[in-house]
Amino acid sequence: MDERIVTGDALNEEALVEYSLRPQTLQQYIGQDKVKSHLSVFIKAAKMREETLDHVLLYGPPGLGKTTLAAIIANEMGVNLRTTSGPAIERPGDLAAVLTSLEPGDVLFIDEIHRLHRSIEEVLYPAMEDFCLDIVIGKGPSARSVRLDLPPFTLVGATTRAGLLSAPLRDRFGVLSRLEYYKEEDLQNIIVRTAQIFDVEIDPRAATEIARRSRGTPRIANRLLRRVRDFAQVEGEGVITKELADTSLELLQVDRLGLDNIDHKLLMGIIEKFRGGPVGLDTISATIGEEAHTIEDVYEPYLLQIGFLQRTPRGRIVTNLVYEHFGIEVNE
Ligand SMILES: Nc1ncnc2c1ncn2[C@@H]1O[C@H](COP(=O)(O)OP(=O)(O)OP(=O)(O)O)[C@@H](O)[C@H]1O
Ligand SMILES: [Mg+2]
Repeated sequence: MDERIVTGDALNEEALVEYSLRPQTLQQYIGQDKVKSHLSVFIKAAKMREETLDHVLLYGPPGLGKTTLAAIIANEMGVNLRTTSGPAIERPGDLAAVLTSLEPGDVLFIDEIHRLHRSIEEVLYPAMEDFCLDIVIGKGPSARSVRLDLPPFTLVGATTRAGLLSAPLRDRFGVLSRLEYYKEEDLQNIIVRTAQIFDVEIDPRAATEIARRSRGTPRIANRLLRRVRDFAQVEGEGVITKELADTSLELLQVDRLGLDNIDHKLLMGIIEKFRGGPVGLDTISATIGEEAHTIEDVYEPYLLQIGFLQRTPRGRIVTNLVYEHFGIEVNE
């Protein structure tokens, strides 16, 4: 299957360019004002007390800036950032090796933290609470447990699925920050900033247009900007005008709200075959030929977010906004 241009996940080729676009300070980090102002207070307070920052859990949909924020936290605290991920830590020993190599105050970033094995979480508990490590030496009856002191550190965990985190792990974070989909205005500022980094001229109205189609997600905004810039170089004079943004996004089949063919197929399927619903997930799945869990995890969240779909006990319903968006009469 083709990668969707409007997916919130990073595409393979995007790692490098994303790295170069990451803001380095809270000041440069656009939007998410609540999260930013909380973090800024906690960071200042920790620095004044010359203590490490409390452990931070960042959660929210893909592409909203969790990894970026983890790096900013380390940068603002003036400490090293060590990065790993849930799936990369296979055995308790892997985690112990990372923990014992930290320097005092360091930020340890564990991405996809919901994917840590339970046996590894248990190593993490005393490390987070008391900065120590209980390791078992030897096997069988002669085995004994030894307690090792660790340098104080800050764990920053990131997850797109906070619901999958075990309660004991979640409870050990002092700061829980939920990232929200971005407002259009914030996305517009992100697009203008990225255009500056790319050294390409952009009409503010073009930035607004791209922002509107970016599904509240900076990663998508930057991706659409890159594609539109290609059109500007080949078709235009290198300047991203409003007209150029409109026509290229049309060609890319991203509509005015950031919906693509898959969204259209899903919504029109419910309208045409089920008079707008309610219809069960499995029935939708059979009708449009997509896995139920893909519909639920990947396609639906944004449609629910913008109020195009509703989940009811009797199934999914398409709202009047969809009829308006497609310019069709509501079925009564
Ligand atoms: N607030 C922001 N201001 C400017 N750029 C941002 C902001 N948030 C994210 N970005 C940009 O969006 C891109 C994706 O962000 P990031 O990789 O941090 O998302 P993520 O939440 O970690 O995604 P995933 O869930 O896939 O790990 C980055 O390259 C970054 O440049
Ligand atoms: Mg990330």
